[in-house]
Amino acid sequence: MLVRLLIVFGLCLPGMALAGPTSRPDPETGKALAERLCTNCHLVGSVRQEHANPDVPSFREIANLPEQTEGAVAARIMLPKHPMPQIPLTKSELSDLAAYILSLREPNAH
Ligand code: HEC
Repeated sequence: MLVRLLIVFGLCLPGMALAGPTSRPDPETGKALAERLCTNCHLVGSVRQEHANPDVPSFREIANLPEQTEGAVAARIMLPKHPMPQIPLTKSELSDLAAYILSLREPNAH
């Protein structure tokens, strides 16, 4: 019995290692990144924020655009339209940010 358990455990471990914590977009990490990198211009979603530029779409507005997806948001961060600057990010930071922005989407917006 113990031997069987050990074998099952041994088979599971590599799989668990592959599906480690960085493999899935984490909106909480995205939120922290957004608060650090994007708040000079965007209203990021937290209620208390003083420095957002009113001409720049808020993350909630971006999330609620019709047909908005994480892929489209990530693409706009990677290939920004002027005057949004290009911000160097890793792939996982990018998907964390996109996941965070999409988490602000309101279900009945459209
Ligand atoms: C220097 C100011 C500035 C900073 C910093 C900035 N942005 Fe932007 N961003 C803009 C502006 C301005 C636009 C609108 C561009 C346009 O006309 O479409 C924009 C547009 C966007 C869009 C596209 C919205 C759409 O219409 O589809 C996304 C997504 C976005 N920003 C995400 C981010 C994220 C994530 C960060 C932080 C990592 C960030 N931005 C940092 C200025 C900024």
